[in-house]
Amino acid sequence: MEKNQKMENIVSLAKRRGFIYPGSDVYGGLSGTWDFGPLGVQLKRNIMQLWWDMFVDQREDMYGIDAAILMNQKVWQASGHVDTFTDPLVEDLETKQRFRADHLLKDAGFDVEGLSNEQISDVIVNNNIKSPAGNDLSSVRTFNMMFKTTIGPVEDPRIEFINKVLDDSISVPISSEDIQAQINSDSSRVYLRPETAQGIFTNYKNVLDSFYPDLPFGLAQQGKAFRNEISPRDFIFRSREFEQMEIEYFVNPNAWEESFEHWRQQVWKWTQALGLPDDMVHELEVSENDRAHYSKRTIDFEFDFAIGREELLGLAYRTDFDLQNIQRVSGKKMDYNVKGTNEKFVPHVIEPSFGVERAIMAVLTAAYTEDEVNGEARTYLKLPEHLAPVRFAVSPLVRNKPELVAKAREVYTILKKKYGAVMWDDNGNIGKRYRRQDEIGTPYCVVIDFDTLETDGLVSVRSRDTTEQVRVKPEDL
Ligand code: GAP
Repeated sequence: MEKNQKMENIVSLAKRRGFIYPGSDVYGGLSGTWDFGPLGVQLKRNIMQLWWDMFVDQREDMYGIDAAILMNQKVWQASGHVDTFTDPLVEDLETKQRFRADHLLKDAGFDVEGLSNEQISDVIVNNNIKSPAGNDLSSVRTFNMMFKTTIGPVEDPRIEFINKVLDDSISVPISSEDIQAQINSDSSRVYLRPETAQGIFTNYKNVLDSFYPDLPFGLAQQGKAFRNEISPRDFIFRSREFEQMEIEYFVNPNAWEESFEHWRQQVWKWTQALGLPDDMVHELEVSENDRAHYSKRTIDFEFDFAIGREELLGLAYRTDFDLQNIQRVSGKKMDYNVKGTNEKFVPHVIEPSFGVERAIMAVLTAAYTEDEVNGEARTYLKLPEHLAPVRFAVSPLVRNKPELVAKAREVYTILKKKYGAVMWDDNGNIGKRYRRQDEIGTPYCVVIDFDTLETDGLVSVRSRDTTEQVRVKPEDL
C-alpha cells in the first residue's frame, strides 16, 4: 500500500471509530490541535500508564512529579528558550502565508539543518525556491515558538504599553529596544511550557531536600506541552498542543556515559513494550550542528511512520546546563552533596524525552493491518493486548432472545469489573460485530450462544489476529 494512502486510512479510521478527532471540529477546526475520543483517550492512558509503570513504579531510583504548566518567566529566560527556542520562518510575498523554511526546503530536496538564517536565505535565492503557490519568498527570520499569555488582571503587555503611552505615563519617542525591554520586563508575562523538562529542573532542589536520594536518581513527569509550530502537519505528529513524558536523570558528571547507555537500552525496552518491531525503529546520532542548544550528545530514535522515517523520541545528555542556569539566575545552590563526604557538585543530566502523540501514531502505524478473511477484505488494528482500548467485546449471539442476553450480561458484568475496558456489543449480526471490533483492535470477542445455555455452559472466544474460536469456561476468561 502506498505510504500516503496508509496514512489517510489511519486518519480516517481514527476519526470514524472514535480515536482522534480534529480539534474544534464543529467550528471548522483549529490548526495543530486534536481531540481524543473515547477509544483514543483509553489508548493514550494505556500508553502513559505503561510508561509510568516501567519508569517510575518499577524502579527504586525514580520520583514522579506533576508541576504547574504556568511558570515564572525567569524559567524560560534562564533555560535559553526566550532567546533560542525558534524556528526559521519565511513568508510568501504575495499571499503572506508563512512557512517553516527548513521544511519547505526539505520538501524541495535541500537539508538546511544547522544553517543560519542568512545561509538558508542564500539557499532559497541561489536555487530559486518559491512558495507552494509559486511566489517569491521573503528572507528568513526567526520565530519564537512559545505561546505567550499574561497572568493576573492585565492585558497583553503590548496593549498595556500602548495604554501607558496614551495615558502619558511613558514619554515618547523611545527606541524600539526600550519598548521591547518594557514588554519583556513585564512581570505579568507567562509562557505555556514548550517542554515539561523545566518543571522537573525547577523541582530538583525540592525533591533533593525532601528525599535526599543517592545519585544517580531521576525525576519523571507527564503532561501537556505547547509549541506554536509554524506549520503543524502530518496528523498528530506535529501538533501545537501535545503531551510529553520526560525523565531528567541526575548523574555524577564522571559517569554520564554509563547512564546514557543505560537509558539507550531502556528506550529499546520501551519501543518493544509498545509492540513496535525493532526493524522499524532506528537510532540517529545527531551531529553537533543539529543538536539542541543544551545538548552535548543526542540520539534521536526514529520510526518508520507512514509519512516516512521521522523522530519518535529523543535521548540527550544535557550536561549541567539547566541546573547551572537555575543556580545563576535564582542565586540558589544546586549542588549535590555526596553522602558521608565533603564532595559537592552540580549533577549532570541524561534526558530521555518521549512524545505521547508520536507513540500513539507509531503504535497505530505498526498495528494497522489489511488482510482477507474468507475471501473478504478486512482491516484490523493488531494492537498489543495491554494497549488495546477495548480488551473484550461481549455479545449474545442474537439480541432478541432474553435468556441469551441475560447470560451475556452476566459474563459482561464479571469481565467489566475485572478489566474495566470491556464493551457490550449487540449491534448487527455477529460478522459485522467482529469486523467492527477488529477495526478498533479488540483482541477477543466473547459470544454467548445457545450451546452456552443448553449444552456445555462454555462461551465462544474469537481471536482478532487468527479469527479462530475456542470455547472456554466464563470463569477462565
Ligand atoms: N525536553 C526535550 C525536548 O522537549 P524535543 O526533541 O523538542 O525535546 C521531545 O521533544 C519529544 O516531544 C519529541 O521526540 C516528540 O516525541 C515530542 N514532540 C516535540 N514536538 C512535538 C510536536 N509539535 N507535536 C507532537 N510531539 C512533539
